[in-house]
Amino acid sequence: MENKTIQIGILKCTIDPMVAIIPSVAIKLIKEGHQVVIEKGAGEQALYEDDKFEDAGAKIATRDEVLQTSDLILTVSGIYKEDLQKAKKNAILIGKFNIRGDKEWNDILAQSGLRVYSLDLVPRSSIAQSMDVISSLASLAGYKAVISAADRYSGYFPMMTTPAGTFPPARVLVIGAGVAGLQAIATAKRLGADVEAFDVRTEVHEQVESLGARFVMVEGSQEDKSLGGYAMEQSQDYIKRQHQAIHDHAVKSDVVICTANIPGKTAPLLIERDTVEKMKLGSIVVDLAAETGGNCEVTQNGKEIHYHGVTVLGNSKLYTLLPKKASKLYANNVFNFVKFMLKYGPGNTEHDILAKTQVAQSA
Ligand code: NAI
Repeated sequence: MENKTIQIGILKCTIDPMVAIIPSVAIKLIKEGHQVVIEKGAGEQALYEDDKFEDAGAKIATRDEVLQTSDLILTVSGIYKEDLQKAKKNAILIGKFNIRGDKEWNDILAQSGLRVYSLDLVPRSSIAQSMDVISSLASLAGYKAVISAADRYSGYFPMMTTPAGTFPPARVLVIGAGVAGLQAIATAKRLGADVEAFDVRTEVHEQVESLGARFVMVEGSQEDKSLGGYAMEQSQDYIKRQHQAIHDHAVKSDVVICTANIPGKTAPLLIERDTVEKMKLGSIVVDLAAETGGNCEVTQNGKEIHYHGVTVLGNSKLYTLLPKKASKLYANNVFNFVKFMLKYGPGNTEHDILAKTQVAQSA
């Protein structure tokens, strides 16, 4: 398909208020020689109107037209079984399909007869970095987690010097110092909070301190560098000591931001119900790991719970509250992936990036 003009169709995302391609990226695809067709209203929720896509040179069409005529179909998430049946024969479908978390959907895609790439499986390598949608969205989620906490917190974040005296800053504990966690630390620091962070990967110690936060050290974690930056499950003894350390720090905190995940597994439970019960009245917990079970025992995915005077917000998709920016980041990552895939050839499994993201082959 390299150097061949293809039709690239963009579907409206029916789950998240995002769009896979934004007008400036449509221009780039058209400049590469492709035709771009977008489902009517696909960009509306992300604040990109149809006429902006038309100005960019894209054609507006119905969902069925996009499906039936496009060689390459792009979406974020939210595609139906019927969509797969309507798609052009041998079309390629690219999106973020949460394959690790949904076996049934994995099977449906595998039997669709389409070649499907799921961008949540982009490997962690420097060459793949420009296509890493999970990291892009995690950064936004980490930022928005702190903003959401600050908005709900009845106090303020920075140290305040007022005519009534000088008052200390809010204490923020960030659990998990990966992409989202580091962004949360940076955001909380910018707002003036006193920040500490914890992670099982001791290599992040320096990164945490370079952002001006303190690292909560629990000795004896197990690490495996071959996991490409991901954490591994820990021993029972370590978990016990870790729970105690997190408990001791959480009960002194005003805000706790949870971001700890282990790919393909249930999120580690790090804040027990008992800890929440002992936290200060008015404290806030934002749990970005909610979708995979949550780091906090009180968390309910997609809900804001008020428990013993503590607000627990369980939401792994806080980036969807920044739909315009989230779409922009996603669209740039998708553009880089599409370029890469067309260069190496769809179906080429010799390249790590294409081999790891391909979840279904065309019939
Ligand atoms: P993630 O979303 O899988 O996990 C978030 C954080 O939770 C990680 O830092 C992990 O160590 C931590 N965690 C897991 N279990 C924990 C526990 N029981 N207690 C405390 N913390 C726990 O990971 P994320 O944020 O997507 O990435 C992790 C790292 O991967 C990054 O810091 C970076 O070094 C690397 N990375 C490399 C990329 C590349 O080279 N292209 C792209 C993205 C990330």
